[in-house]
Amino acid sequence: MRRTCRALTLAALVVAAVGERDVSSAPTAAQSAPGGTAPLPERFGLGRPATPDEIRRLDIDVTPDGHGLPDGRGSVAEGAALYAAKCAACHGRQGEGATSDRLVATDAGRDFAFGRDPSLARAIGNYWPYATTLFDYVARSMPLAQPGSLTPNEVYGVVAFLLAQNRIVAGDAVIDRTVLPKIVMPARDRFVPDNRTGGAAIR
Ligand code: HEC
Repeated sequence: MRRTCRALTLAALVVAAVGERDVSSAPTAAQSAPGGTAPLPERFGLGRPATPDEIRRLDIDVTPDGHGLPDGRGSVAEGAALYAAKCAACHGRQGEGATSDRLVATDAGRDFAFGRDPSLARAIGNYWPYATTLFDYVARSMPLAQPGSLTPNEVYGVVAFLLAQNRIVAGDAVIDRTVLPKIVMPARDRFVPDNRTGGAAIR
């Protein structure tokens, strides 16, 4: 889950548009007082507001409670086929890891000693607190060379397969936007909000 990119500030999104520049408000040398103390112009004349369609294509984040999950559904069997074709080369046939991260760990009951023992492998089954993050991550960033290329049904299927491999759902499970947020991950209660006041839960 390292480097999961999220929380785009969509309100601040601008798209550079050569040719649509409003040069009239651009700063000029004449506006700058010696020492650079002149107030900045309200606008620099760069970019244009993003269109609703551009925002829709980027606004794909899924929150832990499932907000943002699209319609669609996928089964473990469908996911297994997609995984073999598009993921196994890097992550191993069963998710055991190959050139890239291991995706399966079924030792969640053991001591959560990752901080003390860096050799322990963190994976979906023993470390990820929310199943919904799996949808978010895969939809936005996998397969590595074609991020964003999978349909919602394909992502639901491969998520179902990975959850089954981690022994979190049954082999005949079908995952959709209603089912996914209700899945309790083995490591969910290992993470607590840190309000900086300390307490028994914060180590
Ligand atoms: C070309 C190799 C490649 C392919 C193909 C690929 N991945 Fe990955 N995957 C990676 C790499 C590299 C990372 C680590 C990325 C990082 O740390 O930023 C990763 C990370 C992940 C993670 C996060 C693992 C963790 O616990 O941090 C998941 C989940 C994942 N991939 C799922 C998939 C799925 C599902 C597919 C197929 C749809 C897929 N990957 C295809 C290379 C690949």
